[in-house]
Amino acid sequence: MKRIGILTGGGDAPGLNAVIRAAVKTALNIYQCEVYGIKNGYDGFLDENGVMPLGRKEVRGILPRGGTILGTANRGNPYARKVIRDGKEVVIDVSDEIVKGIQKLELDALLVLGGDGTLRIAHELAQKGVPCIGVPKTIDNDIGGTEITFGFDTALNIATEALDRLHTTAESHHRVMVLELMGRDAGFITLQAGISGGADVILIPEIPFKFENILKRIHQRVERGSQFSIIAVSEGAKPDGGSQVFSRQGDEVYVPRLGGVGQMVAEYIEKQGFESRVTVLGHIQRGGTPTSFDRSLATRYGAAAVRLAAQGKFDCMVALRCGEITDIPLEEAIAIPKRVNLHSDAVITARNIGISFGDD
Ligand code: F6P
Repeated sequence: MKRIGILTGGGDAPGLNAVIRAAVKTALNIYQCEVYGIKNGYDGFLDENGVMPLGRKEVRGILPRGGTILGTANRGNPYARKVIRDGKEVVIDVSDEIVKGIQKLELDALLVLGGDGTLRIAHELAQKGVPCIGVPKTIDNDIGGTEITFGFDTALNIATEALDRLHTTAESHHRVMVLELMGRDAGFITLQAGISGGADVILIPEIPFKFENILKRIHQRVERGSQFSIIAVSEGAKPDGGSQVFSRQGDEVYVPRLGGVGQMVAEYIEKQGFESRVTVLGHIQRGGTPTSFDRSLATRYGAAAVRLAAQGKFDCMVALRCGEITDIPLEEAIAIPKRVNLHSDAVITARNIGISFGDD
């Protein structure tokens, strides 16, 4: 192994820089090979200034830094790239150009740090002979085959702190506070932060809710002497028989943008006579310094990915299982996205302690 490339694709997550640092150090210390950073996801292969050498100097001091020193692209799908041709906007497949770019750089391995979309592209490129190794990143924790993705723990801690802060003001004003959290199709952040932050109602994409059930729980709390309530809602939660709430529709390149369900819930509650406020935590969950857990997990993932490259094991992804780092085929990782198990201990425990999911 002489040369490896690293790219970060999709939405950023705390810990990306920790993976890059660990991969560079392992590549230099153990395998004496060169490392190249590809800027802005797969787009870097299409840009003449899109590649940068990564040495000790470049990764110095980046362990606690959020974001990614390589930049990322949310819409960087080489199989569907929007370009202007003859004054018209068209969507084209540039995947062969990416393959050529990888060959030109003479990469022996390409480490792809990303979520489901980015990893799916890595798997497709692997079918064209690109030696890809995936590293599972996303605050949503929704990638199959691994117990946990890096970034999730940091987002969870930020969400929990937000709930703690909302508690004190909710109690002072006797209000209902609604906190809208990230989680497109998986409710892990909302479920776990809701439990840790003492939410009274948790609404997640996996459990459609009824407005009257939320109200029932608020009334129950009032009867028991609590004049305030806390509701944690995933941006992807939806009413029973209804659909997810979007702030912007998508198209063949842009995914639809979720947002607004928290407002919808707060408006309903207010109409029933309970003063309510809504907070949308948004990208605060993705920014800033990673937790100790995420730094350590990201470091282990980064080093393990380089070890796999040295073994010549491609079209696979590093994963955490039973606390140990292992690897699984990329195909398995992207086949079934991870969702909250409705029979899991976490959901049962939440119900046991009186948290409502809005379904009864
Ligand atoms: O997938 C991670 C995530 O944070 C989702 O929870 C959220 O819906 C999405 O990214 C937002 O992405 P963007 O950066 O495009 O706003």
